[in-house]
Amino acid sequence: MAIFLFNGFLLLGFIVASVPNVLVLGSPDAMQIMDQDPLVKKCRYHRDFSLLEARCSNLGWQEIALNLRTDIEVLDASGNRVRELTNNDLTPYKSLAFIYLRDNFIQNIEEAAFANQLYLQVLDLTQNGLDNLPTGLFQLPYLRTLYLSRNKLTDSIFNVEVTSPLKILHLDKNKFTRIPNLGVQPNINYLNMSNNIITSISAEDLAPFCSLETLDLSKNVIKFNTGGCECQMFNAWVKLREIKIKPKFYNCINSTEDCANAQFSNRTYELYNECKSVIQEKVETEKARSTWILVVSCVSAFLLVIFVVLFCVHKRNRRRRREQQKEQQQLTANNANTELLNSNLKADNS
Ligand SMILES: *[C@@H]1O[C@H](CO)[C@@H](O)[C@H](O)[C@H]1NC(C)=O
Ligand SMILES: *[C@@H]1O[C@H](CO)[C@@H](O)[C@H](O)[C@H]1NC(C)=O
Ligand SMILES: *[C@@H]1O[C@H](CO)[C@@H](O)[C@H](O)[C@H]1NC(C)=O
Repeated sequence: MAIFLFNGFLLLGFIVASVPNVLVLGSPDAMQIMDQDPLVKKCRYHRDFSLLEARCSNLGWQEIALNLRTDIEVLDASGNRVRELTNNDLTPYKSLAFIYLRDNFIQNIEEAAFANQLYLQVLDLTQNGLDNLPTGLFQLPYLRTLYLSRNKLTDSIFNVEVTSPLKILHLDKNKFTRIPNLGVQPNINYLNMSNNIITSISAEDLAPFCSLETLDLSKNVIKFNTGGCECQMFNAWVKLREIKIKPKFYNCINSTEDCANAQFSNRTYELYNECKSVIQEKVETEKARSTWILVVSCVSAFLLVIFVVLFCVHKRNRRRRREQQKEQQQLTANNANTELLNSNLKADNS
């Protein structure tokens, strides 16, 4: 019986697990609270789409206040005067999904500054003085959008394994000399490399970004080798993959060869296929998972039904037994009464 009960709970668990999204979204009412502490006196709290946000922009902060509510999920500290992010600056806040630090003076970020930001999805560090980033940033499990425009970043920041599921990457107005080599990146669909010092590009550079939709390479000084077909191949790859690119096309005036029969390199195909297979694998895992959930749910529902039926049968049987017992008791009581009556009558007669 215990196992039926357990499965019943399991099913209930599934139902409850799928409900909270709806519950949470249903409470978009904004609330505003003023904090009394002088350092955070102008930080306003706001609740939007269920996320608790601390709005602390343009307060002249030189460092992140450590006494905000610890359950904030959004921290907007744009337009302050923060110069450094130390390992301790964000430690009180463990639920942050969005951190906006645009337009500060940050020149250094200590290695573990984001180490406990396990739920971080969006980080905005636009317009600071950064020439380096902590390597751990690129391994955060939910990080999908990175704004790093208007810094002094160079190619070396990507000498690290990038495992975060990055989708959107703003790298414009920095000092990159090439399209970053991040390894296979199945999620990135937006890459802005505008206003860097990129000098050469090739189809192979783009191959590991198999989901790329938008690429901005404007305001760079790109030159293709004279004599080769690199320029044509790059244009062909962009066209084949339907990537929206700025500038629209490269004018391949320097190639002297006939490039009509030129092929993409084997490495280009290899990288692209590797990227595609990661996506395929993910789709299959997801499919397998939903199949499993379906199976477990069905079995649980089935067991729950059996449990309920057994329970009802059991109850009915008990009720019946009790009724029978009562009848029996009444019968014996009646018999006793009759006997008593009979014996009384006998006694009277004699
Ligand atoms: C890339 O960033 C620049 C600003 O540096 C912006 O003007 C441009 O629109 C962006 N490109 C795309 C395609 O969004
Ligand atoms: C073609 O070659 C010349 C001289 O090497 C160079 O200045 C020019 O930028 C090149 N053009 C392209 C589109 O690569
Ligand atoms: C590319 O692959 C093809 C077939 O797989 C092979 O014949 C060719 O030699 C390869 N080219 C290079 C440059 O490795």
